[in-house]
Amino acid sequence: QAKVEIDLAAIPEGKNVIIKWRGKPVFVRHRTSDEIKDAENTDWHKLRDPQPDSERVKKPEWLIMLGVCTHLGCVPIGEAGDFGGWFCPCHGSHYDVSGRARKGPAPLNLEVPMYDFSEDEKVVIG
Ligand code: FES
Repeated sequence: QAKVEIDLAAIPEGKNVIIKWRGKPVFVRHRTSDEIKDAENTDWHKLRDPQPDSERVKKPEWLIMLGVCTHLGCVPIGEAGDFGGWFCPCHGSHYDVSGRARKGPAPLNLEVPMYDFSEDEKVVIG
């Protein structure tokens, strides 16, 4: 379907949920305050795909992105890798707690889809 709604109240802090949207996995992470600090304090200017955390989230506690590795399209694993975020086992790409490419062959950060917070505890992807 073109749009999909997610009930955020069902996702506790520190947890990931994977939903399907247009045939692709979408990662939704309820970030902890430590993760938010880490993501915001990263010196992003030096990253291969330079992007501040603030450009990747609408609310700092909710990180929403496509679960498609920007190298060759595998699905990265959550809570893994050297940067506290995601790890792609296909060829060893590491993403941080903002989904930014930090190590390995991935050339770009994990893509952030269009989404909006409909009510306080809901988000609509698409
Ligand atoms: Fe993820 Fe190659 S597809 S590292």
